[in-house]
Amino acid sequence: MTLFLFLVIILFVACCNIGASSKTLLDEQYNSTVSDSIVHQVDNDFECVDMHKQPTLQHPLLKNHKIQLYPTFAKNIVRNRSYSKIVNECPTGKVPIYNRTRRHQIVNNSSSNLQIEDFQYYSQSSPGYHTVTLDTTQNMTFHGAYAFIGVYNLSLQENQYSASSIWVESGPPTQRNSIRVGAEVHPSLYGDSQLRITGYWTVDGQMNNGCYNYDCSGFVQVNQNKNYVLGASIYFQTGIGSSKKEFIAFRIHQDRSTGNWWLTIGLKPVFIIGYWPKQLFTHLSTGASLIRFGGQTYAPPNMDSPPMGSGRLPKEKLKNSGFMGSLQIIDSDYNQNDVKPKDMMPYSDTDTNCYDLWYHGDQGPFWHQAFLYGGPGGKCSI
Ligand SMILES: *[C@@H]1O[C@H](CO)[C@@H](O)[C@H](O)[C@H]1NC(C)=O
Ligand SMILES: *[C@@H]1O[C@H](CO)[C@@H](O)[C@H](O)[C@H]1NC(C)=O
Ligand SMILES: *[C@@H]1O[C@H](CO)[C@@H](O)[C@H](O)[C@H]1NC(C)=O
Ligand SMILES: *[C@@H]1O[C@H](CO)[C@@H](O)[C@H](O)[C@H]1NC(C)=O
Ligand SMILES: *[C@@H]1O[C@H](CO)[C@@H](O)[C@H](O)[C@H]1NC(C)=O
Ligand SMILES: *[C@@H]1O[C@H](CO)[C@@H](O)[C@H](O)[C@H]1NC(C)=O
Ligand SMILES: *[C@@H]1O[C@H](CO)[C@@H](O)[C@H](O)[C@H]1NC(C)=O
Repeated sequence: MTLFLFLVIILFVACCNIGASSKTLLDEQYNSTVSDSIVHQVDNDFECVDMHKQPTLQHPLLKNHKIQLYPTFAKNIVRNRSYSKIVNECPTGKVPIYNRTRRHQIVNNSSSNLQIEDFQYYSQSSPGYHTVTLDTTQNMTFHGAYAFIGVYNLSLQENQYSASSIWVESGPPTQRNSIRVGAEVHPSLYGDSQLRITGYWTVDGQMNNGCYNYDCSGFVQVNQNKNYVLGASIYFQTGIGSSKKEFIAFRIHQDRSTGNWWLTIGLKPVFIIGYWPKQLFTHLSTGASLIRFGGQTYAPPNMDSPPMGSGRLPKEKLKNSGFMGSLQIIDSDYNQNDVKPKDMMPYSDTDTNCYDLWYHGDQGPFWHQAFLYGGPGGKCSI
């Protein structure tokens, strides 16, 4: 088991005046310390496969794909292995690949229907989906996004999911290219209710094409460690109301020289997981037109919606609510900058006692641009 770094923020709760019309939502003082989080992986979920023979390369668009071993923006991070413990590491040249046979058995055992759940355009047109996000409004090209995503256990029923994610998107609805990364509870995908690092992509607004993690060809794994994979479960120690706030930093970043969309996780050190090749995409290959930060839930139409974020509403403040911080975008010149309040707009497709989002700009030297989001779900109106 390898240690996975993330920050623990110790909050000193000064007050909890919920009704206060304070500019800051995260107005408690805090001290930060670095702590370790562990990403657990059951060994037999993964097998080590020659990096150049990973199943993803069977995708017709990746026939002649030359694997990019490390992103051009972070050569040193990948090459410096001295910090990473050689535990759960595949031999040189091999990468961990999910055992699909086992996965399919779990999924076949559940009564879920991934086909219906996945391949529909979300929120606006499909019952059962709810999305509450902070979206960019500028007419410009983005090459990535970054955020701290707060981590909480959630209790879900089979066939529901609850995702806390960053989206990069481009293209009109029927040709929507989208990559979503973050922390997700998704029983029908994983066979359990643990919070797991999850990636999803589609090139046609989820109509026919798109999938999670390694379920179809697409994501190229370069990290050799079995803990730094899509689907890894996230270990954390605190919960709602705790004076410590735990989160994981996610970054999705288009490589300037190859156009591949890289996923990195963590603060110090940063772990490079792998990438979605440029060749998979039509619109996203040249950059994204929209960045979204926030939550999305799904429940079958006859079932209540599951909790989002921490399961508590933003009016309960950072002490209890789900949160995202250090929101950044990577702009058309490949510079990473804090988002600007004037360029961001909250989006919600339901009522505020189901899920809500509170964004009031900068929240001080640690959180920077941050918001609270989520809620208990239940009978949410469209
Ligand atoms: C935060 O840590 C610093 C240095 O350890 C300490 O001086 C300060 O009192 C702490 N702040 C609070 C609010 O405890
Ligand atoms: C590798 O990482 C370790 C630990 O963070 C650091 O002390 C060392 O200087 C790094 N080496 C290089 C070549 O960057
Ligand atoms: C994959 O999982 C199946 C079902 O659990 C198991 O029988 C098989 O041995 C696994 N394959 C490898 C290479 O571990
Ligand atoms: C799972 O179900 C599908 C469709 O019913 C079937 O094609 C596949 O062989 C099953 N997989 C396993 C591992 O049982
Ligand atoms: C699927 O269900 C069968 C029968 O209930 C059980 O024997 C098997 O262990 C289950 N497989 C998995 C991967 O959960
Ligand atoms: C966005 O910018 C492009 C290039 O500057 C321009 O051609 C286009 O009309 C703009 N679209 C909108 C909706 O403003
Ligand atoms: C979150 O859930 C996992 C799995 O059920 C459990 O092992 C872990 O202790 C829980 N964490 C917290 C902080 O409650």
